[in-house]
Amino acid sequence: MDTSLFESVDQYIGNLLGDEDAVLKGTLKSMKDAGIPGINVSANQGKFLQVLAKLCNAKKILEIGTLGGYSTIWLARALPADGQLITLELEQTYADVARQNIIKAGLDPIVDIKVGKAMDSLATLDAEDEGPFDMIFIDADKPPYTEYFEWALKLSRPGTLIVADNVVREGKVLDDKCDDERVRGVQRFNKALADNTKVTATIIQTVGTKEHDGMAIVVVK
Ligand code: SAH
Ligand code: DHB
Ligand code: MG
Repeated sequence: MDTSLFESVDQYIGNLLGDEDAVLKGTLKSMKDAGIPGINVSANQGKFLQVLAKLCNAKKILEIGTLGGYSTIWLARALPADGQLITLELEQTYADVARQNIIKAGLDPIVDIKVGKAMDSLATLDAEDEGPFDMIFIDADKPPYTEYFEWALKLSRPGTLIVADNVVREGKVLDDKCDDERVRGVQRFNKALADNTKVTATIIQTVGTKEHDGMAIVVVK
């Protein structure tokens, strides 16, 4: 497979329509400097998330998995001035870096980082009646993706858009005997998605500067 062609076309799309500005480039640099793994979405994937957020006229977004705030910034830029984005992150050091990037982006008035295990934060959000969200982006640790999805549904209304990253993993999802717990996690999620009658869903494959992967795109009925 000629992956260099996918990369070149990704560059071409990014140059035309990517909108990756100094703040987003600086976010990636801050992550490198802090030794945070570069497992953020690509620039065009970030733009894709932003287009989706605009498409569903999102005013309130939930993100599960902040890392350095790269996807957070793409998403929050789709929001109106009185919008709100809550993002969940386990690692205090990552959240600290993300917060600085979000401040540099001028988005701190509308972005709230909640540090802790996503499962606990989700239960708190539900207990505090923070839902429903207009859009929810699932992108944290992969083994509990199905449980994150169940929480996402609880925090949704009819029409809420739920997006889950990394559900193809270079095609490893095809391997029933794969013993990578991250792959098993997304296999279980994909099956739960297929079995759920309360949503309309598909999965798109993604190629480009990041490895071959996919995003589940889910609308709550
Ligand atoms: N959305 C980011 C990438 C997220 S990477 C972007 O595209 O820019 C996954 C993140 O989930 C990491 O920052 C990791 O620390 C976090 N994470 C892992 N386990 C978690 C948990 N149990 N609860 C909350 N966050 C978790
Ligand atoms: C990993 C996590 C991600 O969210 C991603 O986009 C790529 C890799 C990981 O945990 O390996
Ligand atoms: Mg991801």
